[in-house]
Amino acid sequence: MPKEKNETIIELKAVTKRYGFGDAESFALHNFDLTVKRGEFIMIMGPSGCGKTTLLNIIGLLDKPTAGEYFLNGKSVERISSRRKAHFRAKEIGFIFQNFNLIPNLSVIENVSLPLIYSGYHKTRRLKKADDILEHFHLREREYYMPYQLSGGQQQRVAIARSLISNPSIILADEPTGNLDSRSSHIIMEELRDIHAQGNTIIMVTHNPALTTYATRVINMLDGEIDTDIKTVDDSDLPRPGDPEKISVRILSKKRPVELEVDSQTKVVVSGEHVTIENEEENDSKKPKQHKKKSDKKLKKKTKTEKKES
Ligand SMILES: Nc1ncnc2c1ncn2[C@@H]1O[C@H](COP(=O)(O)OP(=O)(O)OP(=O)(O)O)[C@@H](O)[C@H]1O
Ligand SMILES: [Mg+2]
Repeated sequence: MPKEKNETIIELKAVTKRYGFGDAESFALHNFDLTVKRGEFIMIMGPSGCGKTTLLNIIGLLDKPTAGEYFLNGKSVERISSRRKAHFRAKEIGFIFQNFNLIPNLSVIENVSLPLIYSGYHKTRRLKKADDILEHFHLREREYYMPYQLSGGQQQRVAIARSLISNPSIILADEPTGNLDSRSSHIIMEELRDIHAQGNTIIMVTHNPALTTYATRVINMLDGEIDTDIKTVDDSDLPRPGDPEKISVRILSKKRPVELEVDSQTKVVVSGEHVTIENEEENDSKKPKQHKKKSDKKLKKKTKTEKKES
């Protein structure tokens, strides 16, 4: 699959989902148009019953529209064979649900390895891969626990590990933090932020407006239609696979917190009142300059000046 910049991966054209007929007719989605570029992090908001889950189910190929067209990677979904669709669901799409949907009588590691059943890997290989991803999520010591022995936040991290094990490029999350306290929600959101920074596309439903700060685009739905659609990041600035990983650094000071974004090549050292920004690509012998804590923009500007001087 080509992974060019600003590539459109999902396109819905006048998609309608109708339930019932005649007097009982109702629309979960109505003439819904949506274009999603690779690397977007979209948050979908809107009142209960406005069609958010229906939208995710259609995008994730779990449900079919009654009318309209859906193009996935430029190809009409209607023309994709059911075998290919099943392959796509297993390999390219990761689902995260509000109620975690872990299988209660399977251990953590078995739950996580489940999507790989379709991969053709032998069981030993599946468990090894599950073990690796659980290590990343700091859950390795709990891999033989049963789901009921975990906290809600841990269960959701297991569910995220499971949704990522086949390395999907599209993550669909339906209120993934809906059942969690704010600390666990924060951990989950930081995970999603990392996944997004690696160039993956995330479409997430939430009722919590505070979480929209993580998004590059916020869509408000009403009665099966788009009410408002606001992009906070330009398409040309969306992350791409292979980009150096961006890391957000928040420095809390007495006056006001400073937030800056650096890539994985950059070292940020905070010592007392001073912040030092060091680029690992630069010559080791060159001494880094020290700056007083400043706003994000000013810090970035200084780093550029440093580079000029070198
Ligand atoms: N199988 C079904 N049969 C009939 N109506 C349905 C069916 N599934 C969903 N609907 C209706 O479609 C509309 C949209 O439902 P949907 O689950 O997408 O809403 P939602 O925005 O996800 O709501 P919530 O925030 O409560 O999860 C609702 O009015 C719902 O009653
Ligand atoms: Mg829903």
